[in-house]
Amino acid sequence: MDECLYSEFGFFNTTKVRSNKDGDFLTSPEVSEYFGFFISNFINENSIKKNILEIGAGTGSLASQVEKFSNKKPIVIEKSKTAFQFLKNNEFNVYKSIESVPNQEIDLIYMNEVLDNIPCAVALNVNNEWFEKIIRLEEDSLTYDLLPIREINLAWITNNNINPIEGIEIEIQRNSTEYLKNLISKFKPKYFIIFDYGYEFYERENKPYKSLIRTYKDHHLSGETILQPTSTDITYDVNFSSVESFLKIEDYTVKLTSQKEFIYQNGFEELYKEIQADFQKADGMHKLTLKTHLVGLEAINNNRGLGGFKVAVAKKL
Ligand SMILES: C[S@@+](CC[C@H](N)C(=O)[O-])C[C@H]1O[C@@H](n2cnc3c(N)ncnc32)[C@H](O)[C@@H]1O
Repeated sequence: MDECLYSEFGFFNTTKVRSNKDGDFLTSPEVSEYFGFFISNFINENSIKKNILEIGAGTGSLASQVEKFSNKKPIVIEKSKTAFQFLKNNEFNVYKSIESVPNQEIDLIYMNEVLDNIPCAVALNVNNEWFEKIIRLEEDSLTYDLLPIREINLAWITNNNINPIEGIEIEIQRNSTEYLKNLISKFKPKYFIIFDYGYEFYERENKPYKSLIRTYKDHHLSGETILQPTSTDITYDVNFSSVESFLKIEDYTVKLTSQKEFIYQNGFEELYKEIQADFQKADGMHKLTLKTHLVGLEAINNNRGLGGFKVAVAKKL
């Protein structure tokens, strides 16, 4: 996954920024220019005064919205070379990695659809024994195989109280945990807001998929991962129970909600009604623009789509 997404020839490092209309998938800030409004309300409500950091900014749409509505310019970290260059050219305060950001305390770190792009390992339990799924490099193809699981990954499974479910592969999000740990040790943030598609572990057995890893290209689900290395996005549903338990160990209180709930708690209804009232009075091009805003808001609020995403809101104790 790391090679396919982030190596020199990786999906995120060639040709174009992927998370917009011309790219391969659309995210909440690309669908609605008000997504950052709700994060800004959270910032104001919680009197967040110091720096704000966005991880995995993509096109920078969300950072621009947060700046517009909160009057605070976020620092952003972006790993993709193409997105980094785009952000640099557009005068974002952008860095390539945690290490390259100057030392400072940060009040809030937020991210949208980033953890699902952090490479994971895959475990499978066969006859009460854990194995790791590996990819063999054949002469001109890639194939799957199983090997005994590495100790460190077995520890991750045990620490997360993950019991085997027959025939189900477990995405081991150890890299995400490490990434959050590095953020905490460097910036000591008071708050995290983490948006992503995902689930709580108790929901896993009701999901009708053997694996939660999938590929996207040109706005469509794409096929088998190893048949098209580097030419698709590779992503998976985030196990928010693991995110929650890690943040609790680090002394954060954590609330898991849906995106719909989060935006409701941060001013959705008032904003929607205001734009709707303007829409009824408007005409011509302005009316069309307002309609687009309403449609965008409906999309990020829709329970069966982006509104159904999970959000972890964490506050340092
Ligand atoms: C699905 S896109 C989402 C972009 C943006 N957050 C949005 O909502 O439109 C994921 C982005 O996260 C970036 N990313 C993934 N892992 C990262 C990391 N460890 N540090 C910084 N950026 C990362 C990818 O390069 C990509 O631009």
